[in-house]
Amino acid sequence: MAQKRDILVSAPGKIILSGEHSVVYGQPALLTAVNRRLSVSIKEADQGIEIIADEPPDLARYALEKTEQLLKKEIKRGLKIKINSQIPVGRGFGSSAALAVAIVGGLFSYFGKTWDKALINQIAYEIEKKQHGNPSGGDNSVVCFGGFLRFQKRGEKFIIKPLKIKTSLPKFILLDSGRAKETTGEMVHCVSKKYKKEKLKVKRTLSLIGRTTIKTIAGFKKGNFNQLTTLIKENERLLEELGVVGQKAKRLIREIEKLGGAAKICGAGGLKAGSGVVLCYHPKPKIILNFAQKQKLVHFPVKLGTEGVKNEKN
Ligand code: MEV
Repeated sequence: MAQKRDILVSAPGKIILSGEHSVVYGQPALLTAVNRRLSVSIKEADQGIEIIADEPPDLARYALEKTEQLLKKEIKRGLKIKINSQIPVGRGFGSSAALAVAIVGGLFSYFGKTWDKALINQIAYEIEKKQHGNPSGGDNSVVCFGGFLRFQKRGEKFIIKPLKIKTSLPKFILLDSGRAKETTGEMVHCVSKKYKKEKLKVKRTLSLIGRTTIKTIAGFKKGNFNQLTTLIKENERLLEELGVVGQKAKRLIREIEKLGGAAKICGAGGLKAGSGVVLCYHPKPKIILNFAQKQKLVHFPVKLGTEGVKNEKN
């Protein structure tokens, strides 16, 4: 072990500014890391592997096993692993990607391996497959590399382009539409069922989301946000057409539109209960903040474009 050292690794949550679901089908997405983090501390113990976490430890255990398997290394002693997270679960904030990436990073340190972020990302992607079935790899990539990413998948290959944002960003507000009852994997499966049934229609919707994403990325690159209200509304309308936004989130988003703003889900969505966090934009953000306060909506203040996975002990 890199040895007897206490290991502490943290990874950020993420949101998708444009392109969720369509990214699974090869369209580009714009993702960003946020300043809510999950940390994994690894300490030697006498025997066995003890995982202390708020959520069930199954994914963490699987992440440990998969990393051992892919790195062809073995955990030889006991470990005490503590997971602390500020990332709400089931909200489209990428909590499972953050867990996967942080555990892989932690085990790189444990095995004394130099951090190779591309390899950490690939292993985290394999772990995400267990959780999500058919993930795009976008969530783990942004959590691993941080910042703003243009992400696209070609077969099993990732095309990752970090985006340099030169101007200051408009104020985005994240409102909670509630925890999704469905997992990301279930929502991805929901779209794939629809794709099989109505291939032409769904293909068209996915490629229209792709076009919206390309325009959104161009705006972010130029620091020109004139089209943002239209683009977010369009993206949301297409996501609703895909059938991933529940009634509760739709009602909330219509209210925001009535106030002159635009809003969309930021991840896989959800149907039976909430659809996770909703990204809101208004040229006058105060209007949304007042609305949220009056409606007693949970509001997540976040910073975008934050650092990716990080060794906190270096
Ligand atoms: C989930 O955060 C984003 C989805 O596009 C799934 C994925 O990209 O793997 C719904």
